[in-house]
Parts: sequence; structure tokens; C-alpha cells
Amino acid sequence: MKSMNKIVISVGGSIVNPGNPDITFIKSLSSMLKELRPDMLGIVVGGGRPARTYVDAMREMGSDNYSMDLAGIMATRMNAMMLISAMGIDQKTIPETIGEAHDILLSNKIVVMGGTVPGHTTDTVATLLAESCGAETVYNMTSVDGVYDSDPKISKSAKMFDKLDYREAFEISLKSYTGAASNQFMDSVSLLIAMRSKIKICIFSGTDLQNARSAFNGKKFKGTVIG
Ligand SMILES: Nc1ncnc2c1ncn2[C@@H]1O[C@H](COP(=O)(O)OP(=O)(O)OP(=O)(O)O)[C@@H](O)[C@H]1O
Ligand SMILES: [Mg+2]
Repeated sequence: MKSMNKIVISVGGSIVNPGNPDITFIKSLSSMLKELRPDMLGIVVGGGRPARTYVDAMREMGSDNYSMDLAGIMATRMNAMMLISAMGIDQKTIPETIGEAHDILLSNKIVVMGGTVPGHTTDTVATLLAESCGAETVYNMTSVDGVYDSDPKISKSAKMFDKLDYREAFEISLKSYTGAASNQFMDSVSLLIAMRSKIKICIFSGTDLQNARSAFNGKKFKGTVIG
């Protein structure tokens, strides 16, 4: 099914829930996503602030990374259900495996989900979904406008890359790995999955919807391409 137009998007939880659900933004995001009419559309939503709130609290209580990830995954599913409502999609279950997601995708042409199991983030879920359905590209809408040589929220002199290969991206990602709910532009596992299946990754600001539209339509956009 390689010839079909398939889009898989990793929607950062940071853009739908930076503290509280950003209702105005979620409505605009939903309209933009509904304008895309691929043959198949997979949307994977991250945990955002609520995931961080619970993981941070649990870390202070001495929790283990596995349990913290489980709590984070619950937050991703709440965010996914919220996006389903905003988009007016008739989907009442949040798939808990890539297999379930794939089945919904085949019958509905669209699926919205959150995380699956501890050990990786929703970026990996999106990349696995792309791998399983034969999508060539994963679009990552996040809170930064691209991948930098170091964390741009920490270093003001950080430089952004237009392009990176998988290994370079992997090395940069690994530098900001701190366990459950790390602040990484994408988790390192997702980059290994992308590398093994030659899936192109486009990372750009999720709040600039005009730029996002350009990326989805294959036009020039501000961001980083990994491939
Ligand atoms: N080299 C880097 N380039 C770009 N961003 C980086 C880099 N290193 C670390 N980061 C951090 O990666 C984070 C990516 O966004 P973040 O994980 O907060 O949101 P998200 O992935 O959109 O949301 P969520 O993880 O809740 O789904 C930013 O906070 C950014 O500071
Ligand atoms: Mg993230």
C-alpha cells in the first residue's frame, strides 16, 4: 500500500496542553488537521503539562521510571480524547497498541491515540504507526521550531539545523535524555525506528499553523528534516 497518501503526525502534548488545554488553539489545530485529506491520517498526541506534573510529583516520591511512564501515558490518552472531540471524530476507544490503531486506521481512515507502553514516548508510537502502515514521513509538531545543536530553551546561542541524518539526530537527542518525561525534541528510540525503515522526520513548530500547512503540503517550511 506504499502508493497511497498516508500522513502520521506526532502532536506534542506541549502544544495542546501547555498548562491547561489551550481551547482556542486546539480549535484552530483541529480545523487545520481536518483540511488535510490523505488516504490515511494517524495522529499521536503527547502528554504535555499534565504528564510532567504527575511525573515530577512521582519522581519526588521516589517512584520508578516504569510507573512514571504509565502515569504519563494516561495523560497522553486524555489529550487524545480531547483532540478527538475537537475534531468531531467518531472514535470512542483510544487504541492501546499499534495493532489496534492500525485496525481503526484501516476501517476509519483516521485514528487518534496517545502512548502505548512504558519505555518510549509518543514520538516512537508515531514512528511505529508509520512503519506499520507504510507511511513515508512522520511530522512532529512541537514546542520548538526545529532541532538545534543544544537545547534552545537553555542555550540562547544554539544553532538550528535544516537537515540532519539519523545518527546525528540520535546523538543530539540522547544528550537530553533524563528518563520518564524527558525534554527531548524526539526520543532516541523513535530515531532508531525511523532509521531502520528510512522514514523521513519533519520537525517544526506546532503553533505556527501556516508553516505546518506548508510542511504537510510538501512546500518549503521552517523546521528540521531528518533522513
Ligand atoms: N537539541 C535540541 N533541539 C531542540 N529542542 C531540544 C533540544 N534539546 C532539548 N530540546 C527540548 O525538547 C523539548 C521538545 O518539546 P517537549 O518535549 O517539551 O514538547 P513536545 O514533545 O511537543 O510535547 P510532549 O513531550 O508533551 O508530547 C523542548 O522543551 C526543547 O527545549
Ligand atoms: Mg516531547
